[in-house]
Formats: sequence, structure tokens, C-alpha cells
Amino acid sequence: MSMEHQDSPVLMMANHVRQPLSPDGVPASVLVVDDNSAKLKAVVSIVSRMGLDISTATSGREALRMLLKQDFAVILLDVKMPLMDGFETATLIHGRPRSAHTPIIFITAEADSDSERFLGYTLGAVDYIFSPIVPEVLSAKVRVFVDLFYLQRKLILQTDELLQSKMLLRQLASHQEMIKEEERKRIAREIHDELGQNLLALRIDASMLHARTGTRHPKLNEKAKYALNQIDATIKSVRGIINDLRPPVLDLGLQAAIEWQVEEFRRRSGIACSIVVRDEHFDRDLDEKGATALFRILQESLTNIIRHAQATQVEIDLNRDAGRFYMKIADNGIGIQDGNRKKTNTFGLAGIKERIIMFGGDLRIDSAEGNGTVLTVSIPSN
Ligand SMILES: Nc1ncnc2c1ncn2[C@@H]1O[C@H](COP(=O)(O)OP(=O)(O)O)[C@@H](O)[C@H]1O
Ligand SMILES: [Mg+2]
Repeated sequence: MSMEHQDSPVLMMANHVRQPLSPDGVPASVLVVDDNSAKLKAVVSIVSRMGLDISTATSGREALRMLLKQDFAVILLDVKMPLMDGFETATLIHGRPRSAHTPIIFITAEADSDSERFLGYTLGAVDYIFSPIVPEVLSAKVRVFVDLFYLQRKLILQTDELLQSKMLLRQLASHQEMIKEEERKRIAREIHDELGQNLLALRIDASMLHARTGTRHPKLNEKAKYALNQIDATIKSVRGIINDLRPPVLDLGLQAAIEWQVEEFRRRSGIACSIVVRDEHFDRDLDEKGATALFRILQESLTNIIRHAQATQVEIDLNRDAGRFYMKIADNGIGIQDGNRKKTNTFGLAGIKERIIMFGGDLRIDSAEGNGTVLTVSIPSN
């Protein structure tokens, strides 16, 4: 490398250097490695126009030491250095996991004699520049890597943001789900206590009226009979509304609620449905939230079976072990067609998944076209 080149590393420099834009305002770090202080200075002065955070090293060893403490967006590496040249340094840099993918721009004066060794570096984030250095060329090469680095950082920041908002949405959904369940429970209870009690009182009166008017007042008796029927129909529909909101049988435990729900399902759909309880204390110490979640998942699954499965048989399997409650719902229907599983405008299966995630549980859906569907959920028991 001749001295003239080092002393006059081309001074014509365009003023309109586009600076790479850091996504978070923190400038990228660049490491310049050169044993020749004049060339080091010249390179630094070119790169420093780009708003970067520049570190320097005067030997390969020093560079390696610095790389232990810090990550760089790109390293500008002089090829010709005593003791350890640029290629050896690069091999060591890329041999370390932390800097395995750090881009390197080799700076060399002897294109021809080094060209063979460059061949070994044609893969990956490596480039080279020949002295005398043309500032615009160096800037352009550095910018490519810095732009990439910033893009990567932007992606990381955006991914973080996305993950955070996803978590927030999940918490919000779970919170709303909880509020909804509490509301349903409260309204169901209120309807039961207020409407239900009044209806019962009314029924007693109507029934008495009906009994007393028996033969003496046939017309009145008929009216009383009619009122009694009306009251009975109303009691039935009130009970239906309460069950739709939240079946009171849930207070007796999940197993009781599932048995009730399955009876309803058989009646409504005419589909055979069996329950296998593998542990007689299946729902012991399952708290109300867990019981409600599993119950709602069962309801959603049974609704799906009625609506989509064309099944003739359903089997529900309940089990537990030391750490988990398990519920398996299997149908012998047409199975979930591939495209249907992730429909974007439906929230049945998605809702099940979210509920389960919030409980730290697991969801599995096994389904092959024509071979039915098996939905297995489990939640931790504490
Ligand atoms: N048991 C099942 N058998 C066959 N297909 C099903 C079953 N459960 C769900 N699917 C399919 O998966 C889709 C998504 O279900 P879901 O998320 O509950 O939405 P929705 O019931 O509102 O359509 C359904 O539209 C249906 O095509
Ligand atoms: Mg559904």
C-alpha cells in the first residue's frame, strides 16, 4: 500500500450524504479497524458524516476484544495489518456466535493479490473496498449495512410492540369474559330471586283459586285454569332464560353441569351422547372460574357439532391427574375441513383457544376430513 494513497484518501466529497434513519434515534455502532493511523482517521472522517457511533481499533486483537463487549452494525476492516491480518480477524469474528452475522467491509489496496482470499468471503454480509478510497463508495457500502441494521432493529421494535398489544388484548378479552360471566350470574340470580319467587307466589294463588272454584263457578274455574297454564308457561320460559344465562346447576360442580348440558343436547339434537368420567372426583377442587371456562368450551363445542359436524355420536371424556383437568369432546362427523379451522370472521374455536391460553392450559384439535373431530382441552389444577 503506497503512502500517497493513505495521505490523500480522495478529498472530493459530496455534501448531500443521505443519513440512514435510526428507528429509535439511537445511532448504529460502527467499528473501524486499521493499524495505520492516517488511514484510520480518513475512514472515520468519511463515516462520521453519517451520524453513526464510531469506535476504532488499531489491531485485530483489539477489535476482537471490543466485540466481546459490544455489537456493531458493520465493521470496516483493514486487510493488511501486522500479526493478525484482516482475513484472520474476520474468521475469528465470524466464528463467534455473538458476531457470527456482523457484516464486514474489507479495506485493501491490493485487489489482485487478495482476490483469491476474497473468494472465501463471497457469501454472507461481506463487502470490500479498494484504496484509494472513494468516499461516496465507502459511504454507500456502509449505508447498505446500516440501513439493514436499522431495518432489523425496527422489526424487533415492531415485533415487541405487537407482542405487547397482543398480550394486552388477551388480558382485555379475558377481563371482559370474566365481567360477562359475573354479569350473567348476577342477572340469572336476580331473575330467579325476584321473578321466580313472585311467579311461585302467583302460582299458589292461582292454583288455590282454581281448586276453590271447582264446581260452583265453572266460568271462573276455567279462567283460573287458563291463568295457571299461563303462569306455568312463564315459569318455564324464565327457567330457560336463567339456564341460557348461566345454569344454576353449575353451582353443584362441573360434572353435574356437564350432565345437565348433555341431556339438553340429546333432547335438542337427537344425537347420541355419552359421558365417560375417569376419575370419580373429577371436579373436586376445580374452582368456579375453571369450571365455568370448561363448561363454556363444552357448550361451544356441542353447538359446533350441531351446526357443522353431521355427527350421529358424541363422546365426552373427563379426567384429571395430579396437575391437570382434562376434557375431551369427540364426534364422529365430517371433520373440520382444512380451510375452516382458521376462518377469520368466526370466534368459536378462537374463543376456546383464548380461554385456554388465559388459564395456562392446552388445546388440541384432531380432525381429519370424514373422520370426525376430537377436541381436547386441559387446564392446570392450581
Ligand atoms: N365439530 C366440528 N365438525 C366439523 N366442522 C367443525 C366442527 N367444529 C368447527 N367446525 C368448522 O370450523 C369452523 C369454525 O368454527 P367456529 O370457530 O366455532 O365458528 P362458527 O361455528 O361460528 O362457524 C366452522 O365454521 C366449521 O366449518
Ligand atoms: Mg362455533
